[in-house]
Amino acid sequence: MPVEFQTFRNLMAGVCAPVTVVTTAHNEIPYGATVSAFASLSLDPPIVTVALDRRSQLLSHILQVGRFGVNVLARDQEDVAKRFAQREVERFGSVSWHFDCGMPRLACAASWLACDLENTVEGGDHILLLGLVEVAQRSDAAPLIYTDRTYGTHSVLFEREAAKTRKAKELALLGQFSLVGGDYV
Ligand SMILES: Cc1cc2nc3c(=O)[nH]c(=O)nc-3n(C[C@H](O)[C@H](O)[C@H](O)COP(=O)(O)O)c2cc1C
Repeated sequence: MPVEFQTFRNLMAGVCAPVTVVTTAHNEIPYGATVSAFASLSLDPPIVTVALDRRSQLLSHILQVGRFGVNVLARDQEDVAKRFAQREVERFGSVSWHFDCGMPRLACAASWLACDLENTVEGGDHILLLGLVEVAQRSDAAPLIYTDRTYGTHSVLFEREAAKTRKAKELALLGQFSLVGGDYV
């Protein structure tokens, strides 16, 4: 006998999840949606999984095209996450993006993966997509995290990023001073 729906939902809301925008392009038209059910499955070969609701429009396009991209959002991309979860909005109109490996890649995302669809597994009301990773690129940006229906990031990464920004500002300030007469004043 499975656990009650709301109990399960509340428990899962308390789990920290990544926030990604999974994309594909069909007849050169970009498609994308916000997806938290993204995980690493295998290291050798490199395989990731993405779980999509059976009713997802993105899912039907990925199944036809056989490829998908994963944009792991950065901590300051909460607005992007919200927009790509909305219906009846021009999702790609609000964000800077370009085609990479034939799939939409969002500017300023923390990481980017380009995948070939290897397999699908049925799981209740979702379909699990298994993607063989062909390209994996990571930036220094701290990732966006979703938990308890709120967006945030890991506090250690936040502090690290803040310290880097402080340091860069200090160096820029020192640089400015050094320009004045060639001496720090
Ligand atoms: C933080 C967040 C995480 C989400 N994670 C998923 C997910 O893992 N799988 C999924 O199918 N939908 C997920 N959604 C919902 C989809 O983004 C939403 O239903 C979207 O409208 C689907 O678009 P589509 O029908 O164009 O595919 C998530 C939404 C939010 C805000």
